[in-house]
Amino acid sequence: MIGDLLPPGVAWAERFDDEVPGALYPVEEQVVAKAVPKRRREFATGRWCARQALHQLGVPPAPILPAERGAPGWPPGIAGSITHCDGYRAAVVTRLDAYASVGVDAEPDEPLPPGVLEAISLPEERAQLTGRPGRDRLLFCAKESIYKAWFPLARRWLDFTEARVELREGGTFSAEILVDGPVSGFEGRWLTGSGLLLAAVTVPR
Ligand SMILES: CC(C)(COP(=O)(O)OP(=O)(O)OC[C@H]1O[C@@H](n2cnc3c(N)ncnc32)[C@H](O)[C@@H]1OP(=O)(O)O)[C@@H](O)C(=O)NCCC(=O)NCCS
Repeated sequence: MIGDLLPPGVAWAERFDDEVPGALYPVEEQVVAKAVPKRRREFATGRWCARQALHQLGVPPAPILPAERGAPGWPPGIAGSITHCDGYRAAVVTRLDAYASVGVDAEPDEPLPPGVLEAISLPEERAQLTGRPGRDRLLFCAKESIYKAWFPLARRWLDFTEARVELREGGTFSAEILVDGPVSGFEGRWLTGSGLLLAAVTVPR
């Protein structure tokens, strides 16, 4: 599914289960050694997806440890992004000479819990959701994909209200970043299917 959102030059892998053999290096095992089984499984399958995608770029397998604020520590010259939600895991990677950053997010295709939309959106974003049931979680998904692409470039937090997202029917979105930083906007793509919402942004060089 995720491959439908990505331009040439971005490699990807996805799984709908956790049946992946020998997924983690010992040094990665230590990261989740005290985590609950669900977290251990999603972390391991995310790393497996990442190594599968890196292999497509010709990058040999190596540990991918969490780096600053939880962002994956990619090999030199690589940008990438990992996502997982119930029933889905994916990783995307690209060479930094092709794209400056990438971000992906997956969510269940279900409405947000009550009160969350107000916390993660601007009034004008809520206005565009009027008459579009089920799109509140898609807005959230797009924003999370933006954060994952933003953080490795800016190395600072981006609040949900610091990006103004316009979701377009047809599977695209754009975002205006409302604070100073290395990027003033993002262009992304989204899709729904198999009970999932997926969003991806790529930042050209
Ligand atoms: C970090 C965050 C985006 C993760 O999203 P999520 O939907 O909770 O979880 P996902 O499974 O999709 O993604 C988790 C993965 O994101 C990646 N990630 C975590 N922190 C990250 C960061 N600072 N930068 C980039 N990627 C990050 C990791 O790979 C993580 O998986 P791993 O720990 O197994 O390696 C989210 O928890 C968060 O903090 N959001 C608030 C910031 C935000 O979204 N602002 C909106 C700006 S418009």
